Amino acid sequence: MTPVQHFEQLLARREPLLALAPMQDVTDLGFWRLMTRYGGADVYYTEYFRVHPDSHLEKDILTSITHNPTDRPVVAQMIGNDIPSLIRGARELQEHAVAAIDLNLGCPAPVVYKKCAGGGLLRDVPRVEGILGALREAVSIKFTVKTRLGFDDTETIDVLVPLFAKHGVDLVTIHGRTVTQMYRDGVRYDLIAKAKASLPCPVLANGNVGSHGEAEAVVRQTGVHGLMIGRGAIRNPWMFEQIRQHLSGQAVFQPTAADKLAYIEALYETVTTPQTRELDQVNRIKKHLNFFGPDLDDSTAFLHEMRRCTTRSGLMEVCTRHLKA
Ligand SMILES: Cc1cc2nc3c(=O)[nH]c(=O)nc-3n(C[C@H](O)[C@H](O)[C@H](O)COP(=O)(O)O)c2cc1C
Repeated sequence: MTPVQHFEQLLARREPLLALAPMQDVTDLGFWRLMTRYGGADVYYTEYFRVHPDSHLEKDILTSITHNPTDRPVVAQMIGNDIPSLIRGARELQEHAVAAIDLNLGCPAPVVYKKCAGGGLLRDVPRVEGILGALREAVSIKFTVKTRLGFDDTETIDVLVPLFAKHGVDLVTIHGRTVTQMYRDGVRYDLIAKAKASLPCPVLANGNVGSHGEAEAVVRQTGVHGLMIGRGAIRNPWMFEQIRQHLSGQAVFQPTAADKLAYIEALYETVTTPQTRELDQVNRIKKHLNFFGPDLDDSTAFLHEMRRCTTRSGLMEVCTRHLKA
């Protein structure tokens, strides 16, 4: 079975498709492998490949495709705005085992959007249309898009939806916020539902899905084909499996405090290398632990104490005190 066939098979099921979101500096090969130990996603998106006239496919990101440890289809994401470069990037990526090429239309980092890439492109819809047309022609596998609602308004999505349909985009992921909202404020699932109703292709809803209960509610409210989950999976790697269990009426696995600590130990091993000094290792895993707040009783105290740790044992002591079953 080719990756495209595998992707199609997963999309054809009755159950919602569960995708692990692309997250730069997080969702690399090691992290994907770790997720599979807890059940894992149905589909894995790579971190974005930066594409511009002088770019080469980043070797580290490419490794997650060439050594994909998940047994699941991979979607390769690109960020950029230069059409010839994007075409070249898409051609090169299609030489590898990927199910789809994804265009990033949502990155809110100022260094990216100020160059009119990622979320910045949402300020220039004609340019987006040019890119969609060119990539549709260059991509013979699935062509997908990950977008926010607009740059600083929630109406741009109404203009984008007919363009996605016109250019035959195969799947659209919508993060229900604007670019300028970054990660603030509520997610507009109502607007994802509206876009979904007008799109002929499958849609994944994205943003703030933090539990199996929320997953069910979002699927019900939006009518989407699936969910893309990012930060929720960093703090709760069981989430994909919990969603499957919940939706199929099975008992939902509840990790104990010991399970959660064992996950943090495994995460530590995954994101650090033994050669680096302990302080660098600790600082590296803090980037991941920053996303653990929402599941804790006293997230302010956890984040405050965690960010001050300088040793592995100190860090694990803070986690032990705060991570309860
Ligand atoms: C650390 C981090 C890195 C991210 N990197 C990317 C990226 O490379 N490409 C992308 O499309 N979105 C990226 N995102 C956005 C996520 O894919 C997702 O849209 C966002 O986190 C909202 O989903 P969530 O609430 O489930 O986390 C990143 C988010 C985070 C927190």
